[in-house]
Amino acid sequence: MVLRPHPPSKDTCYPPRVDDFVDRGGRLHAEDVPLSRIADAVGTPTYVYSRATLVGHFRRLREAFAELKPHVGYAVKANGNLAILKLLADEGARFDVVSRGEIFRVLRAGVDGSRIDFEGPGKRRDEIEYALDRKVRILNVESEAELDLIDEVAAAKRLTADVGLRVNPDVDPHTHVYISTGKAETKFGLDIERTRRLAGTIAARKHVRLKGLHVHIGSQITEPGPYVEMVTRLLALGRELRRAHASLVSINIGGGFGIHYRGNEAPEMREFAAALVPLLRDSGFEIHMEPGRLLVGNAGVLLTRITYVKRSGEKRFVICDAAMNDLIRPSLYGAFHRIEPVEAREGPGAQGGGSGGKADIVGPVCESGDFLAKDRDLPLVEANDLLCVRSAGAYGFAMSSNYNARPRAAEVLVDGARFAVVRARETHEDLVRGETADPEWIA
Ligand code: LLP
Repeated sequence: MVLRPHPPSKDTCYPPRVDDFVDRGGRLHAEDVPLSRIADAVGTPTYVYSRATLVGHFRRLREAFAELKPHVGYAVKANGNLAILKLLADEGARFDVVSRGEIFRVLRAGVDGSRIDFEGPGKRRDEIEYALDRKVRILNVESEAELDLIDEVAAAKRLTADVGLRVNPDVDPHTHVYISTGKAETKFGLDIERTRRLAGTIAARKHVRLKGLHVHIGSQITEPGPYVEMVTRLLALGRELRRAHASLVSINIGGGFGIHYRGNEAPEMREFAAALVPLLRDSGFEIHMEPGRLLVGNAGVLLTRITYVKRSGEKRFVICDAAMNDLIRPSLYGAFHRIEPVEAREGPGAQGGGSGGKADIVGPVCESGDFLAKDRDLPLVEANDLLCVRSAGAYGFAMSSNYNARPRAAEVLVDGARFAVVRARETHEDLVRGETADPEWIA
């Protein structure tokens, strides 16, 4: 195969790319490692993460909001790999978790409970017990009944639990309906009136103390406007509640900051900061935020190998070894991920020398909803070529499954010229772990 540099492709805009997955001499690299080398060593499908991109995003965010001395809690749900958690912990991150399992992961990465915020609308009793035993910083409450339960569990443990109230500010984040959480009609948080009322009952409870207010209005938000609206409402409420609750010291503005998937659709961190810092600067509150996607989304790609190329009617199908079970975002949200050959081909039909035309890039799973891209401009590719699915670091592996008895992908971390497997590819034994063909009946 003749290699040549990647020219700009039509449906994506180059640069601006906020990651370290770059073309060198016609070969896509993760930092200084050719992706093809990783595929040869580890196989495919494989998630590949760049340490430099991850750490770079974390530092840029911190810098943008530096004036507020923000407490940045990484939303573990985006990507809970222990190596990712450890890298962020070493940078000084805190962690936002939504389950007992996520608390377990963060602790396993060597982080202390005091750096964890526990959220989510359905915390079970055992999860509340586990969180209190591990001394998490705060439990963010989303309903009256949950506050009652935390009060009861804390009483049994003879301690006072620090709680936050998650406010639903009724703000439209202008994003996909499945990841929009700040409108009144979603299941998340407490409306402002109920927040007030619930705060009023806290003084009378012996085992909870109001420490914070929390908001998260949605994900992949690409404009500062909804944040400004939300922060304005949150601050007004915070100032009001602080009069009765001296313990109320922190507000958490959530995550949701959008990233580039197609090209240049997300504002710079500086733009969000320029809109929000003036509002929050003199608030007197500790400012917390909890981004997931922003930190890790463009720090990861999914590497997959083409199994077959076929035509059906007018259509070209590129069938690769990654599927909806590996990356469900295209099937679930109609999400767009840029996809490029890892090594460009020369010749008629290749990029630059004419296009291979449109293609559906699909996996082997037996559903028509199993696709990574539809009607996508893709240069000429052949079986055994590698494809790089970009912006897959957030909600990629984390949402993967074993559907069709497919072992989950390996995960690799790159650091400069070296790489390491940070999660081994699952084996067939992993697929049946805990199962039995001979039930031990319990009468
Ligand atoms: N805080 C809370 C309370 C959340 O529910 C979430 C995400 C975050 C923070 C982090 O949001 P981020 O900064 O990553 O936007 N699976 C979807 C995204 C679901 C987001 C769920 N909550 C996707 O693949 O687009």
